[in-house]
Amino acid sequence: MEEKGMAKPKTALADVLEKSMIAADALERKDLIFTYKGTVYPTTLCTPEIFKAMDSFEARRDDVILAGFPKSGTNWFGQILSDLIALAVKNNKNEIHHHSDMPEEFPYLEIGDPEKYERMKKLPPRRLIRTHMAPQNLPESIFKNKAKILLLLRNPKDLAKSYYHFCLVFSPFPSYESWDGFFEDFMAGKVPWGSYFNYLSEWNKYIGSENVMPISFEEVKENTYLGVKKIVEFFEFSLNEEEIHTVVQRSSFQSMKKNSKDTHGAFGDLLFRKGGVSDWRNLFEEKHNLEMDKMYKDHLAATTLGTRLKYEVYCKA
Ligand code: A3P
Repeated sequence: MEEKGMAKPKTALADVLEKSMIAADALERKDLIFTYKGTVYPTTLCTPEIFKAMDSFEARRDDVILAGFPKSGTNWFGQILSDLIALAVKNNKNEIHHHSDMPEEFPYLEIGDPEKYERMKKLPPRRLIRTHMAPQNLPESIFKNKAKILLLLRNPKDLAKSYYHFCLVFSPFPSYESWDGFFEDFMAGKVPWGSYFNYLSEWNKYIGSENVMPISFEEVKENTYLGVKKIVEFFEFSLNEEEIHTVVQRSSFQSMKKNSKDTHGAFGDLLFRKGGVSDWRNLFEEKHNLEMDKMYKDHLAATTLGTRLKYEVYCKA
């Protein structure tokens, strides 16, 4: 498979992010975020108007939805899914594929202009849609029309560290003078897209639905081939072994970082930081561990998704 056809050229993703970084540079810190229905969002990426328009989004049964909290690896799994879809469409005569000359949409459902949902009606199958939204805030048609959802999990300590570093370099998100200041806001759900703990508790209500498959950053990091196979089976993509191996190779951190100028523009340098597991260990102090361990115990330990996080393995100090 040719590499060139797979990686999206620098288009919607890079352009929108670069524009949002420029817009954010002109704003004061307090104006970088706003609250909608109790959750914090970034002003230069989301608007109340787009949230209102989002209700008109009509999901299709063959949509491929990637749900993940910010910094859970959504760009990594986004590439895996977009490669898998490209190959499945090529292989499967039943997969209808129209060549479209429509401009590409920004891949996250809740980011863009309110007219995007009208334009999305014309997009050919299978549409790949990423979202950071909690399930209760997603358009109902996603669940009603039984679109399949890949739900991305990442252990909360690595996710918090990744989020903290991202806030230091990505101007649309409020920056912090100290890790302590970020940690306080993260635990209180005052960062963009709110509380990761609430997010997981809400998604836990959907576990058991045959249309929602959780998968963790850590399991795919440990064995990417097995992770990609699981994704292929869940979405019933028809791919041969060689194609699966190509997708696995292209999804390595090194390979994605190397291609990031083409896929993500200047944003790539901010996004591809370490891509590992357990990096939190050199940042968390005892007080942070105690507070997060308690939060996990009180809100997630007794849930299915809480168990899937393997907190004892990945988060124990
Ligand atoms: P770190 O900051 O820990 O390095 P998101 O895409 O949801 O914003 O998540 C970003 C995190 O995923 C970053 O974590 C980034 O390095 C990591 N990541 C991106 N691509 C990856 C890949 N191919 N393999 C492993 N991790 C990756």
